[in-house]
Amino acid sequence: MEKRQLLYEGKAKRLYSTNEEGILWLEYKDSATAFNGEKKASIEGKGQLNNHITSLLFEKLKAEGIDSHFVQKLSDHEQLVRHVEIIPIEVVVRNVVAGTLAKRIGLEEGQPLKHTIVEWYYKDDELGDPLINEDHISILSLAKPEELTVLKEKALEINSILTRFFNEIGVDLIDFKLEFGRGKDGSILLADEISPDTCRLWDSKTKEKLDKDVFRRDLGSLTDAYQTVFTRLGGVSS
Ligand code: C5P
Repeated sequence: MEKRQLLYEGKAKRLYSTNEEGILWLEYKDSATAFNGEKKASIEGKGQLNNHITSLLFEKLKAEGIDSHFVQKLSDHEQLVRHVEIIPIEVVVRNVVAGTLAKRIGLEEGQPLKHTIVEWYYKDDELGDPLINEDHISILSLAKPEELTVLKEKALEINSILTRFFNEIGVDLIDFKLEFGRGKDGSILLADEISPDTCRLWDSKTKEKLDKDVFRRDLGSLTDAYQTVFTRLGGVSS
């Protein structure tokens, strides 16, 4: 497999075409950003840890019947993925109050929710990824109503599976963000990444934060926190 042209560069990843139809080459960068790019840093080892953790979680999800764009891990910071048309909606799933939910509705961070919440955000950097509802999604033609039903069902199923995985390693899954894409045959596939950059993960006993809040809130070493997650998931660095 050959890496060819750079197709897209985001805040944390670069995407290249390959010599194989429908297969892309994804590179994880060491950059960390928060607050829609206002806070930035380069953190050595971060891209590698996110690549390892995402690969491991996508493989675990696949074993439970959840298909994703993930094909294989190529190296410490690279993956092959299937080409999908990304649906410009960030799907956020919440089990416990934290982050913007605490600010928006005035509940205390750490309070378990009566039931899981699924939220839609418009994936648009210039607008700062605003929270949107199903009417906004329809007006903007971001997804069809039947696709939203699939996104919500898949997000809740992924939440059940991941909550169980993380519980087994003494980690609470507080909330996380998913992205989905449309495959050539119209199927909806999980895409992007699932890592401590996109999840809130707290140690079940101490409630220590093991996710990007360490960077957002200057709580210590981000790579130590991410390495803890990777090691507990059974990962071994190559
Ligand atoms: O900031 P907020 O509380 O809305 O984030 C909810 C969850 O979604 C967190 O786990 C956060 O890391 C993730 N998220 C993300 N990318 C965004 C916004 C939120 O991964 N652009």
